[in-house]
Amino acid sequence: MAFPHHTTLTRFLIEERCRFPDASGDFNALILDVAMACKSIARTVAYGELGGVLGNHAEEGGGVVNVQGETQKKLDVLSNEFFLHITEWGGHLAGMASEEMVVPYQIPAPYRRGKYLLVFDPLDGSSNIDVNVSVGSIFSILRAPQPEGNRAECDVVEADFLQPGTRQVAAGYALYGPTTMLVLTVGSGVNGFTLDPNLGEFMLTHPQLQVPLDTQEFAINASNSRFWEAPVKRYMDECLAGAAGTRGKDFNMRWIASMVAEAHRILMRGGVFLYPRDTKDAARPGRLRLLYEANPIGFIMEQAGGRASTGSIPVLEVQPESLHQRIGLVFGSKHEVERIERYHAEPV
Ligand code: AHG
Ligand code: MN
Ligand code: MN
Ligand code: MN
Repeated sequence: MAFPHHTTLTRFLIEERCRFPDASGDFNALILDVAMACKSIARTVAYGELGGVLGNHAEEGGGVVNVQGETQKKLDVLSNEFFLHITEWGGHLAGMASEEMVVPYQIPAPYRRGKYLLVFDPLDGSSNIDVNVSVGSIFSILRAPQPEGNRAECDVVEADFLQPGTRQVAAGYALYGPTTMLVLTVGSGVNGFTLDPNLGEFMLTHPQLQVPLDTQEFAINASNSRFWEAPVKRYMDECLAGAAGTRGKDFNMRWIASMVAEAHRILMRGGVFLYPRDTKDAARPGRLRLLYEANPIGFIMEQAGGRASTGSIPVLEVQPESLHQRIGLVFGSKHEVERIERYHAEPV
């Protein structure tokens, strides 16, 4: 009989928990529920047109626009439902928030309310879904602030979620690519798991991932170049000048338009990703969302020896001001991100 030779996610979590003898097991159960939500989304995504799940989410009278001003895809809505209903029953969560919901989600009766908050981007890169390019889910786990009264009776409010990224207990993403992977940090490095489709289990295939310190590969949406601020223009001009310029080396470029897939590539082989603050829209300081995109990816990068920044300060140190706040984001190989931060610090 052939035994699986890889550690399952369940075994990994139990062995991690041994380092915290007082842990109740709530946290592990929550991660396993999140993993179940990701497996369900992976399966739904894999059916594509056969499952009737492509295209825009429509209600009578036309498409539905989310709080971001984006037209929701059917799979944005379905993935959000998977996260909510696969994690709400376990008694581990005080509440949830996501890209696709204007206000926080309350754990409904008769379920118990627990001590954690779950914040997520149910489907990242969803503009790619109809063209069969990789998408993913991103999540962050915070501790719920102690309520005044009995937690069971207290609803969560927006302010509960406004914690800097340094306070994350765990963060991760699932990537629905040629294989489905779950990449997770619980604050002791970053580990990658590959879904075995026959066993339905995530197997530890990429232990203790490390982002190389240096790189010759960048990812940026160059169509925004006329809106970039001076430090970003300078950095990009130097990269594009290649071996003949001050950097003395040629650079390669990638842009998938699924941040989760770019983050994964950078974890695997290094690189730098920029979606910087720009002057395109005064009301929108950056494209990506702090609580459920920048913070979880930032935590993973820092735990893997990379760096994540607004351009000026570590993104994990930003005090959030609202649930759907957007922010300029630069992450990846440490020396490259530090260079971009230096350019922001230098007078123009
Ligand atoms: P989402 O699909 O969750 O709304 O996020 C999409 C984000 C991110 O994944 C990607 O890096 C970026 O949007 C792409 O933006 P552009 O369309 O400007 O390239
Ligand atoms: Mn979206
Ligand atoms: Mn996203
Ligand atoms: Mn999304």
